[in-house]
Amino acid sequence: MHHEDLMNFDRIDETGNPADFIAFLEAVSRNDDIMAMKRRTYELLAIKAGQRILEVGCGIGEDARRISKMISPGGCVIGIDKSVALVSEARSRNGPKDGSIEFVVGDATALDLESGTFDACRIERTLIHIPEPADAISEMVRVLHSGGRLVAYEPDLEAFLVDSSYRELTRRLLAFWYGQLRCGWVARHLPALFKESGLVEIKVEPHAIIYDFDLLYRSLSGTLERAAEAGVATATEVSDWFEDLARARDNDTFLCANMGYIVTGRKP
Ligand SMILES: C[S@@+](CC[C@H](N)C(=O)[O-])C[C@H]1O[C@@H](n2cnc3c(N)ncnc32)[C@H](O)[C@@H]1O
Repeated sequence: MHHEDLMNFDRIDETGNPADFIAFLEAVSRNDDIMAMKRRTYELLAIKAGQRILEVGCGIGEDARRISKMISPGGCVIGIDKSVALVSEARSRNGPKDGSIEFVVGDATALDLESGTFDACRIERTLIHIPEPADAISEMVRVLHSGGRLVAYEPDLEAFLVDSSYRELTRRLLAFWYGQLRCGWVARHLPALFKESGLVEIKVEPHAIIYDFDLLYRSLSGTLERAAEAGVATATEVSDWFEDLARARDNDTFLCANMGYIVTGRKP
């Protein structure tokens, strides 16, 4: 089955196929390790009733909807995303209709929001798609009030491991894949970026995600269609690689895991 190239997460509207990106976000959010990571980020935000929370790169709004239950009564959560299609999908899904949740189109690197107006801000799997993550972080810090928290989770896709019968081919394909990211090293660079933006009490928590075969296929196959054109591997090598992994799945020997980091900081 054909999947979109997920390296286009920074230009979903231009692909003309937002449905595939939405299906990917739904598949990811069914993953147990992703769910555990999300729950941990909510804890680290230290959300209380009545607060104003910003969710940047909100996608289809699943986290914003969960957070809206934690800030009630009296609070408000704003979800911002660059994609018009995803914001319209987020708005169309069930959520409180009392004004406590709002979805808006906007760019993380230039937030159209007043400074010092949020108690906490959350961003997940979005900075890897932003070429200038420092600009997005300084914008999130700007809109926090003094004492507010920023919590970010990003995967380090250079720390993505797959067991395969084809070790050298695996290295070639994975290096090509993560090399296509706008900002592949942002996860390991988060503490430095937080510090440069003036945040204090920076804490780092590792969080590994185990992928099943379907999630690996959804994540990589669209991008690896370009591997042949880029001279990295032939189309046959790519399909042999996936077939080998599908055999491992059928044998219950499949293993794929990725390290990522949850980083928290406080605005002084
Ligand atoms: C991989 S998705 C993650 C979505 C959501 N955080 C989640 O966990 O389901 C990345 C999201 O970032 C958005 N995005 C990419 N670049 C952005 C930018 N510069 N400003 C705001 N959103 C952006 C995309 O439209 C997409 O919804």
